Amino acid sequence: MSHWSLRGRWYIPATPQRLDPSFKSLVGLLFIQTTVTHSMSNSLPLARDIDGKAIAARVLEEVRTDVAGLASQGVLPALAVLLVGDDPASHVYVRNKLQRAEEVGIRSLEYRLPESTGQAELLQLIAELNTDPAVNGILVQLPLPAHIEEQAVIQAIDPIKDVDGFHRENVGGLVQGAEVLTPCTPSGCMRLLQETCGDLSGLHAVVIGRSNIVGKPMATLLLQAHCSVSVVHSRSVDAAALCRLADIVVAAVGRPQLIDASWLKPGAVVIDVGINRIETETGSRLVGDVDYASARTIAAAITPVPGGVGPMTIAYLLKNTVIATRLQRA
Ligand code: GUN
Repeated sequence: MSHWSLRGRWYIPATPQRLDPSFKSLVGLLFIQTTVTHSMSNSLPLARDIDGKAIAARVLEEVRTDVAGLASQGVLPALAVLLVGDDPASHVYVRNKLQRAEEVGIRSLEYRLPESTGQAELLQLIAELNTDPAVNGILVQLPLPAHIEEQAVIQAIDPIKDVDGFHRENVGGLVQGAEVLTPCTPSGCMRLLQETCGDLSGLHAVVIGRSNIVGKPMATLLLQAHCSVSVVHSRSVDAAALCRLADIVVAAVGRPQLIDASWLKPGAVVIDVGINRIETETGSRLVGDVDYASARTIAAAITPVPGGVGPMTIAYLLKNTVIATRLQRA
């Protein structure tokens, strides 16, 4: 059956002055293309990829410059990374973090502890790292084995060395707009959005997911950037309908390919935080929380998985290590 539709695509230039200051809504964007297309054809321009690898490389260059500046004052930033147990994904993440740290000149201290490590033993190690003046950042890779209470460990880290930004003191400071260590993934997502859209002021952002690591701090950062923010989650009534109102969508829900084109407003900018491994006929592959192939037929810009948000998380961990080093010297 033939079904014709008239569809358009918004163009969002990557400059800070994207929005008409007198009319800060998507109506102020430049409507560059209207396409009469057959609904079964693929003639619409696809969303452009937001290149997390390239933007992370720039962030790492900034960190390298900062580290060189500290080195000229005789300061060598050091990051301690603690990994308990055998979770294979965590081992990969930690290896990447340590490798990137070395590349930008940050000293890394690696603590790989057996699954059987007790909570008291872990807390004792954190206490020692807290008081060691040669250690500037402490990261305990999550998840922890079930017998260790995650919050007890996070709250034991000195807030000024908490490069994850998970300590209550940092979470509270973030909400109040204080200069604190801020969670790495949301910080990286904000950089991607700012480089894609410029000024975010007045845009409607929908965050899908309400975790402490991503969803909640992401919503807070978007609010600080003067967005109108909605958080949708598993109890939301018609999450897709709420999401269709969004200029910016940040998906951090941990459900492979949940969000497809039917969730999106034409011209939305989509940040996909999800990293999910799915089985395929030939093995397995990584996918996000967004159905990339579907979403890119309607979005203006989208992060791929892998190569979108992932590299930004590590880059901002290292940026936080520099910030923590400076805070400790202030
Ligand atoms: N596990 C998954 N994401 C993170 C993160 O951002 N920090 C830590 N410490 N563990 C994680």
